[in-house]
Amino acid sequence: MRYLTFALGKGRLARQTLDTFEQIGITCQEMKDKDTRKLIFVNEELKLRFFLSKGPDVPTYVEYGAADIGIVGKDTILEEKRNIYEVLDLGFGKCRMCVCGPKDAQELLQHQELIRVATKYPNIAKDYFYNKKHQTVEIIKLNGSIELAPIVGLSEVIVDIVETGSTLKENGLQVLEEICPLSARMVVNQVSMKMEHERISKMIMDLKNLQEGLGK
Ligand code: PRP
Repeated sequence: MRYLTFALGKGRLARQTLDTFEQIGITCQEMKDKDTRKLIFVNEELKLRFFLSKGPDVPTYVEYGAADIGIVGKDTILEEKRNIYEVLDLGFGKCRMCVCGPKDAQELLQHQELIRVATKYPNIAKDYFYNKKHQTVEIIKLNGSIELAPIVGLSEVIVDIVETGSTLKENGLQVLEEICPLSARMVVNQVSMKMEHERISKMIMDLKNLQEGLGK
């Protein structure tokens, strides 16, 4: 039996993924050590390998087959547009992709003004403004702390993830429009899906049964 390799995005999703996997008998003891600097972990018995990468790189590893399976946010899937199969909504990591800004920016969205939009997600922002709203905007790519942009005058609005809404609130911003709901998804390499169909399908079934048991 060959190893099945999982790519997990570092951070919150990885921890929730490991908790979920543990409930269907997929464990990786090595990975629980919080102080480790190791990047790749093996479960010899189950012939599984796990590695941690930056979230946006997960679809890349999966498309090229360096990982058979990836766990990643829907936001990253939409942004990266890789040729991969999205096979399951894991039901955790729930949040929303939104257009946000100060209250008075609402008007700029309604009157199709030429505005600046700061975001970590230029493809999602482009698709939303150009293809759905038919509004021409200038998109400015940032790498984090996006909420700063309208505060310091870099842009009128932002496209960003909203989870609890507290970052917006504490910075005097609000949700102006909702683009789409987001959550963690399982993605699979297209060749692996055929070659390892049995093992991967069983895993998907186990995860679905677990979700039904939990009433998700
Ligand atoms: C994300 C997102 C928002 C915040 C939303 O940022 O970009 O800033 O979380 O969460 P909330 O609605 O619960 O306040 P993240 O912490 O990933 O860091 P970043 O600013 O570097 O993107």
